[in-house]
Amino acid sequence: MSAVPHHVAIVMDGNGRWASRRFLPRIAGHRQGVESLRRCVRLCVERGIAVLTVFAFSSENWNRPAEEVSGLMELLAKALAREVPQLHADGVRLHFAGERRGLSDKVRRGLDEAERATAGNQRLVLNVCFNYGGRWDIAQAAQALAERGEPITEEALNRAMALAHVPDPDLLIRTGGEQRISNFLLWQAAYSELFFSDRLWPDFDAAALDEALACFARRERRFGQTSAQVAAALAPPPARAATAAALASQV
Ligand code: FPP
Repeated sequence: MSAVPHHVAIVMDGNGRWASRRFLPRIAGHRQGVESLRRCVRLCVERGIAVLTVFAFSSENWNRPAEEVSGLMELLAKALAREVPQLHADGVRLHFAGERRGLSDKVRRGLDEAERATAGNQRLVLNVCFNYGGRWDIAQAAQALAERGEPITEEALNRAMALAHVPDPDLLIRTGGEQRISNFLLWQAAYSELFFSDRLWPDFDAAALDEALACFARRERRFGQTSAQVAAALAPPPARAATAAALASQV
């Protein structure tokens, strides 16, 4: 198993508390959250992570005060306009997962344009889950199969889900001290390692990410197997082991 996760997913929680502690409006916390996301993308590239998936707006976030919802929509539109050129220059491919109906034409156009502009990039895939819910994803995939008259199997569902273009997350981080999944990647996180950080998202810096990565590197991922089976699969093949032993006996 590789010590560095291929795919990291993050619930970026704690923006509101970060702002409240400074007597600022909640949207100031989300603005700082965008800064933290920018830093996190750079760190992921530096650490050799291939896919980063973040939860930016859940299907349930519509229930927040109207002012905060419109603030988040505006923040997304502004972040797209400001960040996409640099993300493109850094080789980041953007992908948006979530229900696009219900978003304004302006936001939808921004998402389409950002995906189109960065489609050829290969350094890091950045999936932004926006107007996304794990239950929505499973239901929309099942609906798509039903409409095509396809049998509903695990493989077919996998192909119809919003993150079909990437393997499942290896590591799922939630910041902000809460320990729950909150309808994020319900299907894809079946075998993800979970890491809960007390840091608020705007404070999630290099040291905090490295702590999560170090913890991940110590985990034993068994995927339903026993420890002994995992150890046997990781052991060198007998021929190589025998050669190594013979070489060792010569010194
Ligand atoms: C949860 O913190 C965070 C969100 C609902 C929004 C996350 C959005 C960002 C980090 C900005 C990036 C987004 C875009 C638009 C690309 P919370 O508000 O629930 O924090 P709290 O638990 O402290 O109240």
